[in-house]
Amino acid sequence: MNRLSHTVVGAWQAGAWLMISVGGWYLLHRRHRDFALASVKIGLGLAAVAALLSLVTGDASARGVARNQPAKLAAFEGLWQTVPQAPLHLFGWVDKAHGRTHGPEVTGLLSWLAYGDSGRPVTGLEAIRPADRPPVNASFQLFHLMVGVGCLLIGLAVWAEIASWRGRLEQSRLLLWLLTLSVLGPQIANQAGWWAAEIGRQPWIVYGLLRTSDALSKVVTANQVAASMVMFIIVYLLLFAVFVFLLNDKIRHGPDDGDLQPTGKWALGFKAKGGAK
Ligand code: HEM
Repeated sequence: MNRLSHTVVGAWQAGAWLMISVGGWYLLHRRHRDFALASVKIGLGLAAVAALLSLVTGDASARGVARNQPAKLAAFEGLWQTVPQAPLHLFGWVDKAHGRTHGPEVTGLLSWLAYGDSGRPVTGLEAIRPADRPPVNASFQLFHLMVGVGCLLIGLAVWAEIASWRGRLEQSRLLLWLLTLSVLGPQIANQAGWWAAEIGRQPWIVYGLLRTSDALSKVVTANQVAASMVMFIIVYLLLFAVFVFLLNDKIRHGPDDGDLQPTGKWALGFKAKGGAK
């Protein structure tokens, strides 16, 4: 359930930041001002909620990983020894040969996040047979990339909300550029999160019970799998190219005049305030 809600909230972020990005691009190029401001403000509301929910659901997912897949959590955090006051690395590099992780860390934070008790030990990689450990550096970097981008998006949402509240959204070109590029953030975090989750669970397909290498089909050959993979990659690349072409075309064209006129019950209040400018 935590994984599902975390993934759904990640999709909300993708939608919200796309809306913000298009609005930011229009503001940078001084086009469709009212439409752009409305897009950015509505998008920022959703993005702020979704960014905070990413933290909450991500934290709940991490506690689930601590309970159910301790080797994955140890790899995500580059934790080697099973110690109380287990540290959380803000970023860093895993030295697999010497069983160490280099980088700034906060003592006790991992124990506290995993169990709500900074004194409680968290299982380290040394307690797990080398053959049962996931690829540590890849898991660590991808997990930290996801969390890092998530935190940057929270910071950007706060900055943009304050600028919008003070009526200064259009005055900083740096902010507008960052809002335009922000569309990439959730895409990177979603991919990194998915890769971290899948690489971090290796070598198991069912944790502790069934290894990925034992879960291969006996009837489907490697060549057949490779052929269908190539086919899927080609089909999805084509679909992606069509998507980017159509989206780019729609954004460059901008909203039609009719799109700027509110309809239904909202129109009354809107017209009373002077209508679209
Ligand atoms: C900000 C702090 C974040 C924390 C603490 C966090 C935590 C986690 C954890 C622990 C997992 C692994 C779950 C598992 O293997 O069972 C995960 C996976 C994932 N995360 Fe995050 N995350 C954060 C931010 C984000 C953001 C910003 C996004 C996207 C916008 C995101 C998207 C994902 C996705 C798509 C997965 C894979 C889910 C799956 O395959 O089940 N995460 N995250």
